[in-house]
Amino acid sequence: MPQLNEREQWGSKLGFVLAAAGSAIGLGNIWKFPYVVGQNGGAAFIIIYLLCVAMIGLPVVIAEILVGRTTQRNPVGAFKALSKSKFWPLVGGMGVLAGFVILSFYAVVAGWSVGYIYEAAAGRFAEFKTPEIAGNHFNNLTANVYWGIGMLALFMIMSMTFVYAGVKKGIENGSKIMMPILFLLLIIVMIRGLTLEGGDKGLEFLFNPDWSKVTGTTILEALGQSFFTLSLGMGAMLTYGSYMTRKDNIPSAAVEIVFLDTLIALIAGVAIFTAVFATGQNAAEGPGLIFQTLPIVFTKMPGGYIIAILFFILLTIAAITSAISLLEVVTAYFIDEKKWKRHNAVLVFGGLAFIIGIPSALSFNLMKDFTLFGLNFFDLANYLSANIMLPLGGLLLAIFVGYIWGIDKAFSELKNGAEKLFEKSKLRVKIWAILVKYLAPVLIFLVLLQSLGILQKLLDFFSEII
Ligand code: PHE
Repeated sequence: MPQLNEREQWGSKLGFVLAAAGSAIGLGNIWKFPYVVGQNGGAAFIIIYLLCVAMIGLPVVIAEILVGRTTQRNPVGAFKALSKSKFWPLVGGMGVLAGFVILSFYAVVAGWSVGYIYEAAAGRFAEFKTPEIAGNHFNNLTANVYWGIGMLALFMIMSMTFVYAGVKKGIENGSKIMMPILFLLLIIVMIRGLTLEGGDKGLEFLFNPDWSKVTGTTILEALGQSFFTLSLGMGAMLTYGSYMTRKDNIPSAAVEIVFLDTLIALIAGVAIFTAVFATGQNAAEGPGLIFQTLPIVFTKMPGGYIIAILFFILLTIAAITSAISLLEVVTAYFIDEKKWKRHNAVLVFGGLAFIIGIPSALSFNLMKDFTLFGLNFFDLANYLSANIMLPLGGLLLAIFVGYIWGIDKAFSELKNGAEKLFEKSKLRVKIWAILVKYLAPVLIFLVLLQSLGILQKLLDFFSEII
């Protein structure tokens, strides 16, 4: 494959792993994972989620990184380089678009997190005597047009700064500093949760499965969550993989990324549920868990003032390293394919993502009643990208690697940097191929049907017949 002379590369494998783990670890782990676990009854959901991560997430992460490293291109260019058909580059294009759409609403929630650092530091949480007061405070903030858009702008500028500085200087160095801080802060918050009286009830909720709560939907929801949290299906892992060299070991890097992502989700779960149970809050609160329930938890715990500030700083860091990867996909596309300068691409598309983010921010105030297909702008962007574009992208990627590019060619590329694995445990490599070719496409297809609401109709149909 011809190498573009000016294309940047990671300084080290560790740099790549931290940057890719930075992409994976984000609002999906700390904001979404706990509330989804809460809504789906706890431990049983976690076990199914772990199986999805290991059996589908990991193999697809490897496949995505591999396509990127092989072609040294953005998602569109990568498919162009590996197939003659006009269809596959469109799949890459859908990924670039999905990244853009995700960034626009993701940055809105991340902006709230930035705003909450200030709320925490200003001591606002001390006034939260009841859940209603905390909820009203959150609603008032998001109803304020200037607050919503201002925080969105602030977050977008922070993320753009790293991408602007480049792959090695910005993304890699930024991740090397931010990721260890994130781990440290999260561990502090977890220890605080574990040492609270009554926190063990939270652990029980997380690790003592109640199988009666599991339904077909739970399984499909767990798979969807594993996709979002691993940044799969839109070319983020592919683009990060394109800055790797052939000397780097992809399977071992992928295992490390997936392990870190899962570990952080579990630690976040422990930190949040020990605190929620110790202070007698509702675990099944939903998306407001972090912004409405957690501040009350902080007021009720000793040391809560500091912990609250640390918590929203770490949430912001996690969101920045994910937003960076979303912006990098679009940026890489315009650098590779349209020969743009990095700086121009970052300014134009960071700016554009901010503008598209505005209607998402306004979905909580001025544009609340403006709906398409029954959803406001924020929910629509969220639904379209996470529930449709990502699973579709992941499904097509697995089919591409399994059947179009072909497992044999994939094997010969995967071998570079992982010679030992191929010599010693051929079996593991074969299992990977089977998962990519058969299990991943079938299961992802089911999730997609579920997102579109078709599966439910089919199940109803069959249960009527029977
Ligand atoms: N994985 C990120 C998170 O958990 C979200 C994300 C999705 C980032 C897709 C990049 C691509 O928050």
